Amino acid sequence: MYKVSIMNFDLNSLIRNNIKNLKPYSSARSEFSGPAKIFLDANENSLGSPLTKHLPGGQAGYNRYPDPQQILLKEKISFIKKISPAGILLGNGSDECIDLLIRAFCEPAKDNIIICPPTYGMYEVFGHINNVEVKEVPLLPDFNLHLEGIESAIDEDTKLIFLCSPNNPTGNNLDRNDIEMVLNNFNGIVVLDEAYINFSKHRSFVPELKDYPNLVVLQTLSKAWGLAALRIGMIFANEEVIYVLNKIKPPYNINGASQDLALKALDKLEEVNTMIRETIEHREELIKALQQIDIVEKVYPSDANFLLVKVKRADEIYNYLKEKGIIVRNRSHVILCDECLRITVGTPVENNELTKGIEAF
Ligand SMILES: Cc1ncc(COP(=O)(O)O)c(C=O)c1O
Repeated sequence: MYKVSIMNFDLNSLIRNNIKNLKPYSSARSEFSGPAKIFLDANENSLGSPLTKHLPGGQAGYNRYPDPQQILLKEKISFIKKISPAGILLGNGSDECIDLLIRAFCEPAKDNIIICPPTYGMYEVFGHINNVEVKEVPLLPDFNLHLEGIESAIDEDTKLIFLCSPNNPTGNNLDRNDIEMVLNNFNGIVVLDEAYINFSKHRSFVPELKDYPNLVVLQTLSKAWGLAALRIGMIFANEEVIYVLNKIKPPYNINGASQDLALKALDKLEEVNTMIRETIEHREELIKALQQIDIVEKVYPSDANFLLVKVKRADEIYNYLKEKGIIVRNRSHVILCDECLRITVGTPVENNELTKGIEAF
């Protein structure tokens, strides 16, 4: 890969002109925040809501708009992740974060992004929604990055490279040196999706943010934290990148109920660590159980909370399990995943039903 020092990284030249010039919407609650006696600035329902009387302790019934900057939530995340609140942006799931990144940096019908399939499908979908070309550089057969392929795909209009580690659906960590190689040689932004990092033996790249101005790390509360329904995704990046994204995010993108519940959950780090340890134990048991089954050809090593499993007749097994009420993800028509199912690690009872189901097939 050719050597371009990241000293050449110029964020300003990457931001779309209309976003650079954008005067963001100023919401009522961003113009005034803090305690006051009477709020008559946001056309809320001053009488309360149908929820008011059902909530304990006379809590307000969510009739007020939530904090647009999620200050309390970011303080807790900042403490856990050891990154300043100014380096954090929260999205309505990491899906919103992916969309915001593409919209901030990619000029429709001109710029392009690079993805490395098989990988998480929403990078491509948001690229297409935004009319941004999506260049595909498939992973190597061992599911590592094809560095030369990435090098030749990069052109002057390449703004973002999406990397996912541990990768979905393959479950492996990308090689750390390869990620650094891309970071060191690409003058656009490298988005490293760490949705499954809590299950991984590898360290997060969050501490590396200080060394790489072109690094953006995505994480989520949907996986190890078990809060998929709250829709809270996290972008960790340098403050200049966060500043740009803050300009374009919808003002109240994290709703009040989600903020309240996430604040409670974030106090329970130990519980989450216990669940992570249990999930990893169950993953290893599930691997052993699947390896005993004839029709299972290969269980790929996983550093996530799911397994990629190569079987003899994936479509038929998928349909058979579905009829039994067991839903897995059929990835057999995805590049490099011939005859593969992606199976989330369940509870021991669920894992047992799954393996019995496959055996019965
Ligand atoms: C790699 C990866 N990134 C992001 C997401 C989306 O996460 P969220 O629930 O935060 O939108 C997923 C969901 O499956 C995923 O696998």
